[in-house]
Amino acid sequence: MRIVRAKNYDDMSRKAANIIAAQVTLKPDCVLGLATGSTPIGTYKNLVAAYEAGDLDFSQVKTYNLDEYRGLPGDHDQSYRYFMNVNLFDHVNIDKANTHVPDGLMEDYEAACAAYDAAVAAAGHQDLQLLGIGNNGHIGFNEPCDSFIKGTHCVDLTESTIQANSRLFDSIDDVPRQAYTMGIGTIMAAKSVLVIANGDAKAQAVHDMCFGPIVPSCPASILQLHPNCVVVADEAALALCPAE
Ligand code: PGA
Repeated sequence: MRIVRAKNYDDMSRKAANIIAAQVTLKPDCVLGLATGSTPIGTYKNLVAAYEAGDLDFSQVKTYNLDEYRGLPGDHDQSYRYFMNVNLFDHVNIDKANTHVPDGLMEDYEAACAAYDAAVAAAGHQDLQLLGIGNNGHIGFNEPCDSFIKGTHCVDLTESTIQANSRLFDSIDDVPRQAYTMGIGTIMAAKSVLVIANGDAKAQAVHDMCFGPIVPSCPASILQLHPNCVVVADEAALALCPAE
């Protein structure tokens, strides 16, 4: 696991976008695993700017997102499909048919989750998986629990996640209590992983991810076992980590 120190959010966002841009440049038909949340918004802005400058071509890129709230349709303004359209897909030359976000309205969800994993595998797995990290150490919506769950599955969100995400909803009662998420096995199968984190609220989680025991109570800690994982984090998020 390699740690890249960024000065602040903007610096983190530029560095992360540069890594993703290099992936798209080197392999124009790459498979990107993508993330939502506040953290990647600046990264996506930088990718859009690079596209507008003529430096990036997304026409052959395929994407698979980590997660989606259960029960939200893709046109709901808090759904992750909507987030991806608004923050990235609507602004670059990606073919929307090549973009995939778990369907929040899937009916036979066990079959649909298995099909999602099969599709990621059939695409050759993610060349690069972008991840944020939750205050509680979650990746995707793999919440702290007793075991690492391998495949895409339905999760009950923890109070801490519901609380953290309520800032984006009119009221905490509107936050869905469940979500679909890629499992740890699906994430770990990515050829490379890029974790981004900023702000002091993430400091403990970033420390535990990089230096704590590898335990499902901190799902991100499994990334210590990934052969090609880069963490780009700002000073505040790295405050509890050793200096070098
Ligand atoms: P955030 O969420 O980027 O909104 O902080 C990160 C996450 O929960 O993975």
